[in-house]
Amino acid sequence: MIVLGIETSCDETAAAVVTGQRQILSNEVLSQLDEHRPYGGVVPEIAARAHLDAIDHIIARAMATANVTYPELDAIAATGGPGLIGGVLVGVMTAKAIAAVHQKPFIGVNHLEGHALTVRLTGDADNNEVEFPYLLLLVSGGHCQLLIVEAAGAYRRLGTTIDDALGEAFDKSAKMLGLGYPGGPALEKWAMDGDPIRFDLPRPLKGRAGCDFSFSGLKTKVRQTIENLPAGPVTDRDKADICAAFQNAAGDVLIDRCNNAIDLFLAAHPAGRHLVVAGGVAANQSIRSRLAALCKARKLSFAAPPLDLCTDNAAMIAWAGLERLKAGDVDDLSFRPRPRWPLDPDAAPAIGGGVKA
Ligand code: KG4
Ligand code: ZN
Repeated sequence: MIVLGIETSCDETAAAVVTGQRQILSNEVLSQLDEHRPYGGVVPEIAARAHLDAIDHIIARAMATANVTYPELDAIAATGGPGLIGGVLVGVMTAKAIAAVHQKPFIGVNHLEGHALTVRLTGDADNNEVEFPYLLLLVSGGHCQLLIVEAAGAYRRLGTTIDDALGEAFDKSAKMLGLGYPGGPALEKWAMDGDPIRFDLPRPLKGRAGCDFSFSGLKTKVRQTIENLPAGPVTDRDKADICAAFQNAAGDVLIDRCNNAIDLFLAAHPAGRHLVVAGGVAANQSIRSRLAALCKARKLSFAAPPLDLCTDNAAMIAWAGLERLKAGDVDDLSFRPRPRWPLDPDAAPAIGGGVKA
């Protein structure tokens, strides 16, 4: 089976060709960083126009690199939500047009499902297939959730953020420190040279029951810490130490919440073996190594996609499309893009928020 995947839900225009044998034949990602940098964040209208300018070329390149012709494809999958609707529309309409012309199935993929299933494409540390069920920590710019992945399309949410997503907290803290855009990777770099205990930052919800997250208090304390520094420009030493303190506090919260989630996961699935991390923040080395250590302590296997498949890409969309195709679950051309699309529609709303869920 061969599937073309298209991703346009945020600020990456991406296309990839993937096979049912877990091979990535091509994986083209065009980032719009330069277009959005002057604004310090993603501007939806600029993103939609940039997707429109780039999409044909990126798809042509993905097909050429894969050395695959349209008739050889088994399906065309595109992110159908959640995300910035202008961009999602560009990807979905393009995919539908290709599907209609070549008489192939179209699959509208949930972007979060793309992140959630990436490890099934990339495998565990020994390149073995990661089998269902597994526990998933999904940490991106828009989401922060713990889920049990029971099968493709079957998710049970154990917890979610009641305010900010972790990637958002990384980005906003980085912005306050003037580290540039995008903030997450920059903050990680600065944290490497920092002292994580010089500044005392909160660990929201740590020690409390359940698996929900909250990061807005941490972000606020970063702002107050910066305001309380001596007058004048923030020094490099201060920047590095605040970054290290932030990353350490965020990591403590993740470990605490994951520990609770592991209890619930093993209670539901005593033979469950894997903790998986996915989404853009999963590219953070400090967070990856702390989760790996937690898995060792809890006798679970740890699986994470390679760094370039943690952030947004189309290989994950092609793969999620493949899993749907194998299950016979395809869409037709009446599919409507969905700006909001929870993985677990039955989950109870998070107390006090859940706006990102
Ligand atoms: O999954 P993703 O590419 O897009 C969404 O679906 O949201 O995630 C992007 C987020 C951004 O907030 C970005 O700052 C964060 O992931 N991120 C990181 C790192 N790389 C990307 N956060 C912390 N450390 C990183 N190395
Ligand atoms: Zn994403």
